[in-house]
Order: sequence, then C-alpha cells, then structure tokens
Amino acid sequence: MSSTAKNKLPEVEIPDVRTPKILQNQKALVTGANSGIGKGIAVELAKAGADVVVNYIVDPDSAHDLVDQLKEQGIASFAFKADVSNEANVIEMFHQAVKELGAIDILINNAGLQRDAPFEEMTLEQWNKVIGVNLTGQFLCAREAVKIFKKRGVNREISCSAGKIIHISSVHEVIPWAGHANYAASKGGVMMLMKSIAQEVAPHRIRINSICPGAIRTPINKSVWSTPEAYDKLMELIPYRRIGETDDIGRLAAWLASDHADYINGTSIFIDGGMTLYPGFATGG
Ligand code: BGC
Repeated sequence: MSSTAKNKLPEVEIPDVRTPKILQNQKALVTGANSGIGKGIAVELAKAGADVVVNYIVDPDSAHDLVDQLKEQGIASFAFKADVSNEANVIEMFHQAVKELGAIDILINNAGLQRDAPFEEMTLEQWNKVIGVNLTGQFLCAREAVKIFKKRGVNREISCSAGKIIHISSVHEVIPWAGHANYAASKGGVMMLMKSIAQEVAPHRIRINSICPGAIRTPINKSVWSTPEAYDKLMELIPYRRIGETDDIGRLAAWLASDHADYINGTSIFIDGGMTLYPGFATGG
C-alpha cells in the first residue's frame, strides 16, 4: 500500500466497554492465569461475576497479586501452583478447587509456552516440553473437568449446561509456522482434541470450544510489538491494523463461557484482527 493511501486510513480505536455480569455464581479455573492472556481472561471472568482459581507455575507473587485484584470485584479467588503437564498436580488442583469453591463450572485451558528452534536444530526436550504443556496439559485438565461436570450434571440455577471448557488455541492451529513446528503441532492437536471431546461429551450437556488468538500484546511476545519497526512489520499480517489486547480475549472468553453462547459447541473462534484472512493475498496471488 502506498504511504498516501496508508495516511488516509482511520485511527485505531480501542473498545471502551463494560463486561456484563453474565457469569454470576459460576466458578472458573484458569490455567496459566498469572500473566498474559490467562490474566486477561481471569480479570474479565471476575468482572462477569465468576469466582476464579488462579493456576500458575512460576512467579507466585504475580499470582497472589492477581488474586487480590480479583477479590476487589467481590468474588472468591485463590492461587494454586500446579504443572498442567503433571497428572498428579492436575488431579490435586481440581480436588482443591471443588473443595474450596464447592464446584467448577468453567475450565479455561490456557497454560501454554513456546520453545522455538529451526526444525533441524529442535531438540527432543523442546518438542516434549511444548507438547507436554500445550497439548497433554489441556488433555489432563479437560479430563478432570469433564469428570466433575458429569458427576454434578446441570444445575439450572447456575447455567443451562453441566460445564464449559474453553481451550486457548492459536491462529497456528491452521496457519503453519516455520521455526515453531512444536508449537504449531501442539495447537493443531488442541483443535482435534477439542472437537473429539466435544463430540463425545455434548450429550451430557457439556460445552467445549476453542478460542484462537492472533498476535496479542503480552510480555512473552514483546519483540513483535515493542518497537515501531516491529509493530509496523506485524501490522502487515493484521488487516484490522492493531495488535490484540488481553482483554479482547477476556471478553470473548466470558461471553463464550456464559449461557449467551449456549448453542456454540465444538467450534474454534478466531480472534485475530483478520490474521487468518491471509493478508498477503490482498495484493499478491
Ligand atoms: C503466538 C504469538 C504470535 C501469534 C501470531 C500466537 O499463538 O503465541 O507469539 O504472535 O500466535 O503469530
């Protein structure tokens, strides 16, 4: 696009909206909740009225600070350290969550990481770490949540469904990503994990979906947004011409977990400013 045409584009506006109380009396567990997208989701769920378990693995101070911040919304919250790729840790976390909050209605399967490397240099350790947390971790947490949801069944006072799981996937469940084969494989795996369990447990009134973020402003991916040059380069991949904010994802998660979205089941929702529109084809191809 020529610079004259670029100059005519409207300024970016960030939404100024209030999250409605659509999750009153619901209990949510958010994995990897103490930073980035997980934190943005925990904050919005609390604003929507849900009690929130803040799972974390590193940096306990940030988890405890978040718990204090969430409690200011008048909800119950506590932090729980657990490695989502460790079966015993996960079982213990769900046990504690039910013990302290009385139930779990919503699982946000968010914990995830990257260990990037050119393919021929990728170590088995890098591969296993990413698959372990991003895919096996989502399996282990979903399995415990499904057991709890099935056992309790539907409580009409709380929600139309027995429970909701939201997998945090990525645009990279469909966009291949050179130099990140382990990460893209884990997110492709999350897609079929989500769809297969959704198909299996839907008759039990359990609703399972994925959220697929594009580039979101988090501390982890600072290199892609923190300098004007990097930001301009990133915008070539985003037709809507702004980076996503963690509360963009949080608001979607709160809505998707609520009865407003009751008929949405087994679907990946992309929230990416149009990254999956393959913007290179706007002028190429
Ligand atoms: C990754 C980000 C990346 C985005 C778009 C996400 O899944 O975590 O680091 O910027 O995909 O490529």
